[in-house]
Amino acid sequence: MNVLVIGNGGREHALCYGIKQSPNCSNLYCIPGSDAISEIASSIKIEVDDHDAILKYCVESKIDLVVIGPELPLTQGLSNRLINNSILVFGPDQMGAELEKSKKFTKDICKKLNIATAAYDVFENYDDALTFCQNQSYPLVIKADGLAAGKGVIICEKIDDAKDALIKCFKDNSFGDAGSVVVIEEFLVGEEVSLFSLVDKNGFVLPLTTAQDHKKILEGEKGLNTGGMGAYTPVPSISSNKMHELSKIFIEPIVQYLAQKGINYQGMFYAGLIVTEEGPNLLEINVRFGDPETQAIIPLLETDLLELLHASATGSLNEIEKIKWKNDYAMTVVMATNGYPEDYKKLTLISNLENIFLRKDDYLFHAGTTLREHKWLSNGGRVLNISSTGKDLKTIRQNIHKVIDQINWDEGYYRKDIGWRY
Ligand code: AMP
Ligand code: GLY
Repeated sequence: MNVLVIGNGGREHALCYGIKQSPNCSNLYCIPGSDAISEIASSIKIEVDDHDAILKYCVESKIDLVVIGPELPLTQGLSNRLINNSILVFGPDQMGAELEKSKKFTKDICKKLNIATAAYDVFENYDDALTFCQNQSYPLVIKADGLAAGKGVIICEKIDDAKDALIKCFKDNSFGDAGSVVVIEEFLVGEEVSLFSLVDKNGFVLPLTTAQDHKKILEGEKGLNTGGMGAYTPVPSISSNKMHELSKIFIEPIVQYLAQKGINYQGMFYAGLIVTEEGPNLLEINVRFGDPETQAIIPLLETDLLELLHASATGSLNEIEKIKWKNDYAMTVVMATNGYPEDYKKLTLISNLENIFLRKDDYLFHAGTTLREHKWLSNGGRVLNISSTGKDLKTIRQNIHKVIDQINWDEGYYRKDIGWRY
């Protein structure tokens, strides 16, 4: 099979790595890819939003399957464009991607289907939203409806915070169009669990695994929200049976509902849950693999990843036998540039990356690097993902730290407490 991956981050590096392991992968391409991805796939310099050029490339290179990594091309309809031209795609169409693009869209579906989620109201102007906030108890959660790169959720401890959040959305235009509609919801307390199920074009749902991300920049879950500073999989407190049960409650009904509306959801269905004292609630849906969860999940996966992605695109996930894993657990720790998620230095030297010793179960994925004159430089906020698999999370974390200790990068920062819950 000729396979094309869309994206350029750590998630896509891991996807390329996983796909490349398949005996059915003959040629692997990545648009736009990166210097690190180029070591395992051909990086093709086409802009991700140039759907004409991507389609042309797929036809000319006889691409059999396109795997779309990030949410943006999905919300922009890249999947529709390719499927309409008879190209197999892993990733939902534009209507399916609305689940991630609009929090209101997802919350309204939950309400209709009686799926547990935080109580909420939706506002389209500052005055009404502020009046509502003046009569609420705190904490309260204010969310920009649209895509805001993980920054559109504001936890408000008091009315003044709520006022600031509403000013950001409605007056300062901090989130652009994404903040012109605001979802205000009840604050829930509990442990967060990410549930990943594959969905095929016939609506068959195959639960894959669970994971737990660490969104805060600082140890002890303090500081600003990030795209994710580390993750592990599976979540020890969620048994395989429980995962299947959660997928039946939170994923299958939504896939069926969309199908009734003529939306054939296919690809990854990532349900962000929070388990409160009263039970699990849906926080959000993402329509793609998680980043950095994928950098832990793929090293652990023994079942052929390409077979799974292809089966989703062709509608044959029901034929997949039990998913197999190489080891019990996996973890990934993110190395970010000092200062992230706010300002940070660009293009800083990571001096000995090419000499790092990795044991059999260790993996190094590049999230944001560039190669200049044979030297690796940082090229973003989240820069490296170090993953490892093993029998227990504590040993895995120690092994990851042994890899990190070898990395000679003055600007590198990482959380030492990934997996602290277990
Ligand atoms: P979301 O993008 O909706 O997943 O929100 C990002 C993060 O904000 C979540 O991972 C939670 O940590 C937090 N969050 C979102 N909604 C709520 C809520 N209703 N109650 C408590 N925390 C929340
Ligand atoms: N790690 C969170 C996300 O992928 O949205």
